[in-house]
Amino acid sequence: MPNNEFGDFQTPLALALQCLKVLELPGDARLLEPTCGVGSFLEAGATVSPASERQGLELHPEYAEKAARWGRVEVANIFHTRLPDHVSWTTDGPLYVVGNPPWVTSAELNRMESDNLPPKENFKGAKGLDALLGSSNFDVCEYILLKVLNEYRAEPFTLGMLCKTQVARNVIEYAASSGMPLAGADVYRIDSMKWFDAGVDACWFVVHVDSSRPADYTARIHGDVFAPEESAENRFGVVDGRLVSDVDRYSGVRVADGASPYEWRSGMKHDASGVFELVATPAPATKEGVALDLEAEFVYPFLKSTDIFRGRHRDLTKWVIVPQKTFGAETASLELKAPALWKYLNANGEALDGRKSSIYRNRPRFSVFGHGDYTYAPYKVAVSGLHKKPLFQLVAPLNNQPVVLDDTCYFLPFREGVEAAVVTAVLNSQPCIDLIESLVFWDSKRPITKKLLARIDLNQLPYDSGLVCESAAKYAAAADIPFDESTARKLLGAFGAVVLGPVS
Ligand SMILES: C[S@@+](CC[C@H](N)C(=O)[O-])C[C@H]1O[C@@H](n2cnc3c(N)ncnc32)[C@H](O)[C@@H]1O
Repeated sequence: MPNNEFGDFQTPLALALQCLKVLELPGDARLLEPTCGVGSFLEAGATVSPASERQGLELHPEYAEKAARWGRVEVANIFHTRLPDHVSWTTDGPLYVVGNPPWVTSAELNRMESDNLPPKENFKGAKGLDALLGSSNFDVCEYILLKVLNEYRAEPFTLGMLCKTQVARNVIEYAASSGMPLAGADVYRIDSMKWFDAGVDACWFVVHVDSSRPADYTARIHGDVFAPEESAENRFGVVDGRLVSDVDRYSGVRVADGASPYEWRSGMKHDASGVFELVATPAPATKEGVALDLEAEFVYPFLKSTDIFRGRHRDLTKWVIVPQKTFGAETASLELKAPALWKYLNANGEALDGRKSSIYRNRPRFSVFGHGDYTYAPYKVAVSGLHKKPLFQLVAPLNNQPVVLDDTCYFLPFREGVEAAVVTAVLNSQPCIDLIESLVFWDSKRPITKKLLARIDLNQLPYDSGLVCESAAKYAAAADIPFDESTARKLLGAFGAVVLGPVS
């Protein structure tokens, strides 16, 4: 994708035409394209609505000159132009602000030493936008959409922009938090690989602005901009101030969108798999097959998110070295306490010293992180943060040792197996899956996050307690945990209330 500092990849005419067809432009439309490039959207506008009044702004004079075939085009910098002050019209039909702003982030621009960025003071006081500009990295396209919505909020108009789907979500969230008069939106997916050679989820984002209509911060999601007549898949948007991915599914389980009674943890990180991760033969061995006779108290059974997702959590296939009990604890005493491990770590000292993350800077030499007492809890309920399906597994000791999870997993730690089995059953119950599916955006790199899991109030989920007890018994049996139904029943609705007591 030619992604230079100007986000200069011009929209193919066929796509611009289809986007405007979706808008069903009236004959007297006023069409404004704030970063019009060579004018694909103005040309498309001239085709679908020949009598429309069309205007464009563009930074580069040579592009503006080309675009001027299709409307009135000025050379201007969007970041220094307040659109309603600058653009005057000779007609008064419905307004459409359309286009394809640069898809580039402020961090990328900083790396390119480009100053094609909005001045920081632009939106002082405009709730949401000042926060956006203040953040260390923001999407320039998102900024332009919010700028347009903010500047034209006083009049009814339709915004239609090509953007990343993530940008569409952020815009809806900002618009809701700052009370912009949105009256609903539509997201039509586009094949960004085909049109822009870009491997990113993108869409034709249509927003209706109208302060005379009830505020609506939801967006219908349509499968394909080339099949707009197909009914929407579902709606995402802001409900009660919270962004949800499926508004209708959410309505049945929103009572449980609150706070988890337990603290979710993420797994351990070490940034040196070649050194810390060992193969189970079943005894610990290097990946090259060299058996290692290390002090057992520093070596734990190890599972990764794929093991959790694929249901391989009862198999001992990997070990991991944990050189210190908690983050930051010294590792020098290993020399006396664990001479074999000390020798092994020193032999691999170069690889460990070369770890890039700043978390290891000024720390004991053989540090790992993301571990504490909870790491050694015998029972855990774990989920993969990387896979696109919520599937919770009950992790019980292997080789009579607590299992350590890697940092692509999230988990709840438990001292008691029955409690872990019941929580596993509740998390896998249909109401919980409904809640997760109505909150998650599966196109994210890490769809399931700690933040999302922390929103699940297990005590409010409308599950069937009979079914939950039945499946808890099965999870317990599969993990060789003696199951006591009366304890299980006591837990239902009282999670976190120290009935058995989780590990902090
Ligand atoms: C992704 S291209 C899209 C062009 C056109 N909208 C289209 O769809 O074919 C983005 C355009 O924004 C222009 N641009 C970048 N920064 C700008 C700025 N600060 N002010 C105005 N235009 C800008 C670029 O020159 C480029 O032509």
